[in-house]
Amino acid sequence: MKAATLFAALGVLSAVVGFSSQKASAPEWTVIIGGQTDGYLSPCGCTKPMSGGIRRRVSAIRQLATGNALILDSGGLAVAAGPQDEMKADALAETLVSAKADAVLLSGADAVLGVANLSSLITRLDGRLLSGSLTPSDRLPVVPSITKGPFTVGGVLVNPAAFRALGESARGSAEAAEEFIAQLPSGAVPILLTDGGKEAATTLAEQNPDLRLVVFRQTGEPLAAPIPVGKTLLVAVGEQGKHVLRFKFQDGALTEYRAIRLGPEYDDDPKVAVIYQTYLRRVADAGLLDALPRTVTDRYVGSEACLPCHTQEHAIWKGSRHATALKTLEADGHQRDPDCVSCHVVGLDSESGFRSREKTPTLTDVGCESCHGPGERHAREPKRFPFKKAGEDSCTGCHRGSTSPNFDFLTYWKKIQHGPVENQRISSGQEKIKKSR
Ligand code: HEC
Ligand code: HEC
Ligand code: HEC
Ligand code: HEC
Repeated sequence: MKAATLFAALGVLSAVVGFSSQKASAPEWTVIIGGQTDGYLSPCGCTKPMSGGIRRRVSAIRQLATGNALILDSGGLAVAAGPQDEMKADALAETLVSAKADAVLLSGADAVLGVANLSSLITRLDGRLLSGSLTPSDRLPVVPSITKGPFTVGGVLVNPAAFRALGESARGSAEAAEEFIAQLPSGAVPILLTDGGKEAATTLAEQNPDLRLVVFRQTGEPLAAPIPVGKTLLVAVGEQGKHVLRFKFQDGALTEYRAIRLGPEYDDDPKVAVIYQTYLRRVADAGLLDALPRTVTDRYVGSEACLPCHTQEHAIWKGSRHATALKTLEADGHQRDPDCVSCHVVGLDSESGFRSREKTPTLTDVGCESCHGPGERHAREPKRFPFKKAGEDSCTGCHRGSTSPNFDFLTYWKKIQHGPVENQRISSGQEKIKKSR
């Protein structure tokens, strides 16, 4: 006990010494960089562990931003024109204000939003939307740079053409970066955000050796370590807002780089959860799902119509996760979200397909006809209207890319196999039906 007390006292003493020696040097800062959201306000959640999402991002930012913090967003407010992207950009802007972001890059892709939407975003972001490439106008009063603590942050567009097409006066990254450097407050630590890739960032660093940090865009994961170009560091957040980056700024140096994956260990930030639910409600209220284009196909009847003649297949299907796929979306309020519904119901792209649980109660979830095709004629006259053989092709419309990265036909088929005994040979590998006939 005595020894422990002594050690504790020594600990306190050394902490005090540490504190007083630190007092002489400049205060420590944390630099946090998120962004490259590109419409991914929430991970689709189709595979686990899922990463990213604005709700987790902000709880991570709030945890990291203790003491002096500079919070940056590398942009990607929108990817396409249209009401859903506008709603996403609004929700993202509100999120960034809630996260106390200091600066948000205006990217070339954001031009799809058009002048009226951008102008209202600028108001929402209240002095945070950054671009040294646009000449600030009454229509788009962006800020060329922001200064906070020791840092001055600028933003440049590699391709200003999309903004010129909107009638704005816009210049490329080389010219804008040069002016940013020329106008730096003396002694400032310059950080530049760009919507260009690694090559563009490297050129900017070579041409402006005073830059300390350049944040660029990159698909895939963020870098394991920053790329040094002279005394400039290059970093990228990586795709779909799945990560945030963190640096410490101590004694004039950017140190302790970390790329943090936004996994399930980050809870949803409660304030952003409200913003996100409000966004989903706006999407639902605007009827965007009802406005999707549809084509004329054979008629869908729903899985219950198959029950009388295919009792066994129906029982297997009923016990599979396909049979509750819409419920999965409803659990998180995504049941009217055009980003999600097509793969979680029957025939969303058909005139006779899913509309809503109320209007088309038999076409909810992934049903028999999601794989076999519209079955009204077959259900009426099975002999006269047989189905084509279904195979791997009937799965990959939904089990593709990031929604099902572990998809392997034989493994997955085994979990839902049905039909006569010979189908079971498919899964035991004795016979492969990999393609539809
Ligand atoms: C391209 C088709 C597709 C789209 C679009 C899609 N999903 Fe999925 N979803 C799937 C597939 C396929 C699975 C099953 C993946 C697996 O297990 O391999 C799945 C599974 C899920 C799961 C279950 C995860 C689990 O393991 O419990 C959730 C939750 C989910 N999706 C939510 C969403 C949300 C929310 C959206 C929209 C933001 C969405 N999905 C959009 C195809 C899709
Ligand atoms: C996830 C996709 C999927 C769903 C959902 C699905 N099936 Fe199938 N089904 C297949 C595949 C793949 C086969 C095997 C290939 C084949 O034989 O056509 C198959 C085989 C069958 C067969 C045997 C066909 C044969 O010639 O051997 C019947 C009958 C059948 N399904 C009926 C149904 C019924 C009824 C439902 C709904 C209760 C249903 N299926 C749901 C994909 C699906
Ligand atoms: C009235 C009874 C009946 C109903 C309802 C019915 N089927 Fe069938 N189904 C049959 C019969 C009988 C066969 C065998 C046809 C043959 O041997 O030519 C069959 C065969 C199939 C096959 C094997 C491929 C083929 O067509 O030869 C699939 C797949 C299938 N049915 C799916 C479905 C689905 C999906 C539904 C619901 C949309 C459905 N059936 C509704 C009686 C029915
Ligand atoms: C219309 C879109 C769609 C099609 C077509 C589809 N699936 Fe799925 N599948 C889903 C969705 C969505 C889920 C997740 C459902 C949930 O958990 O809510 C899923 C889940 C699964 C699961 C459960 C995964 C697990 O880990 O338990 C298996 C297995 C599966 N699908 C196999 C298949 C196979 C095999 C085919 C093709 C023969 C197929 N699916 C066709 C959308 C689809």
